Formats: sequence, C-alpha cells, structure tokens
Amino acid sequence: MTTEASLEGRVALVTGASRGIGLAIAQGVVERGGRVVISSRSESNLAEALSTFSDARSVHAVVAHVGSRQDADRLVTETIERFGRLDILVNNAATNPYFGPLVDIDDARMQKTYEVNQASIVTHTAAAWHQWMGEHGGVVLNIASVGGLGPEPGLGWYNVTKAAVIHLTKQFAWELAPKVRVNAIAPGVVRTDLARGLWEKNEDLLTGHIPMRRLGEPDDVAEMALMLVSDSSSWITGQTIVIDGGTTNQPSGGVG
Ligand SMILES: NC(=O)c1ccc[n+]([C@@H]2O[C@H](COP(=O)([O-])OP(=O)(O)OC[C@H]3O[C@@H](n4cnc5c(N)ncnc54)[C@H](OP(=O)(O)O)[C@@H]3O)[C@@H](O)[C@H]2O)c1
Repeated sequence: MTTEASLEGRVALVTGASRGIGLAIAQGVVERGGRVVISSRSESNLAEALSTFSDARSVHAVVAHVGSRQDADRLVTETIERFGRLDILVNNAATNPYFGPLVDIDDARMQKTYEVNQASIVTHTAAAWHQWMGEHGGVVLNIASVGGLGPEPGLGWYNVTKAAVIHLTKQFAWELAPKVRVNAIAPGVVRTDLARGLWEKNEDLLTGHIPMRRLGEPDDVAEMALMLVSDSSSWITGQTIVIDGGTTNQPSGGVG
C-alpha cells in the first residue's frame, strides 16, 4: 500500500497556473516527481510563476485562453509534444467579472463567465480525451466552488457556472470511465486574488463564520488535488470534495 501520492513519471496540465490554487497544484506535481505544463493568458505572469520552481526542466509554460477551443486543442498538443504524454488535466482557471443580483447581469459578463468557467471544462476535457486519454487513460480534476452548492448574495451567476462544473464532473466521470477518472474540488474562501474582494477587508468577520477560524490557503486545496490525481484515489470518480474549513457544515437553522 502506498502512503505518499507519488506522481513519478506523470505529466500534468494545469490551467490558470500563473498564481493561486493552480500554481500550488503545479508546484505539488513537480515536488511529487511529475512534470507539468502551466498555462494562463499572460506571458509575464507565467514567467514569474516559472521562477518559483526549483527544477525548471520539469515545467513548461504555454500562453492560452481557456475560453477558446482552439487554444484548448493547442495547449494539449503542446503538452504532448513537450513531455510525450498527458496523464493529468486540472481544469482550474476561472473568472468572476460580475457581483450583483442575477436580474441585473449584462450579456457580455454572463457569456464570459460561462465560457471561462463552464464551457472550458468541456473543451479541455474533450481535447485531452481525443488527443491522449481516450487511448491511454488519465485523470481529470475540476476546480468548482462551495458556491456551486447553494444560493449566495451577489455571486449568483458565478455559482451557476460552478454548479455546472459539479454536474459536468458527474457526467464526464460516467462517460469516460473506466479509462479516465473525473473528480472535482469545491473550495470555500481561499486567500487568492480571485477572492480578494471577499476576504481582504473582512477577514475577521469571515473567519468568525468558518468553524476552523481561518481562510483556506492554496496549499490546502493542492494537497487534496494531488491525492485525487494520484493512484491513491484509483477507485474515486464522479465526486466533488468540499474543502472549506467546515463552512458548509452549519446548524440547519430550523426550529425543531
Ligand atoms: N479563491 C477562492 O476563494 C476560491 C473559492 C472557490 C473556488 N475557487 C476556484 O479556484 C480556482 C482557482 O482560483 P484562484 O482563487 O486560485 O484564482 P486566482 O489566484 O485569481 O488565479 C486564477 C488563475 O486563472 C488564470 N486565468 C484567469 N482567466 C483565464 C483565462 N480566461 N484563461 C486562462 N487562464 C485564466 C489567471 O492567470 P492570468 O491572469 O495570468 O491569465 C490565474 O493563473 C478557480 O476555478 C476558482 O473559481 C477559488
């Protein structure tokens, strides 16, 4: 029985890996013996991210926009050309350009959030399947959110896309088994740029509602991610694991 989630010999592709949760996952892949392609929209952000890896031979950076199917196909092609295989796809990149009531959201931001957070899961998983995993097998991990589990003020449309990520995880797990396992992680509030508006000015108030009394850190999510993409979880597929310091485990508020 293995105790360590070794990724020796494995090749991973992580979208949205220039910072935050994606970068922490990519660093963990290399620490466990794997090689990784990190991707984001910005060459300079990726250069900064690359400089945080001690072994640069195990990392390759590719600029790509997850909202583009062409970019998704090219990203997977470049990964296979560079490292010879693709064992692990982490669909991590996401955006949240709108905060407010659903009835007031404009078409442009609705469309952008859909393309980046939801449609990208389909295009990248399809590219990975058609170019490598359909024949050789592999693992897909989607980063959802606890927001996808219920209503929340101001984050309605982002949360709809994250609910879709949870459902897409179940659907792909069913369609792609037994060759490919597909799981998701639903984080609570994690200290990254994406959630800065939620935690920066209200950290004490926020942590007061978190049973573990602290925000999540990117490494909290990365630890579970590395387990789910390794052989330690070879009988887990179609699942969404909540990592939120206990936030969603609250008394029901009912009267009896
Ligand atoms: N932080 C939280 O509290 C929290 C909670 C629940 C779920 N999540 C989820 O966790 C995942 C990671 O978020 P994070 O908190 O680590 O955010 P983050 O620190 O803002 O990082 C987002 C990453 O995605 C990249 N990115 C953004 N738009 C992109 C696009 N269109 N194409 C390609 N790359 C793009 C960014 O890079 P560039 O700017 O260089 O392109 C960056 O590397 C997301 O799926 C998010 O929804 C986060």
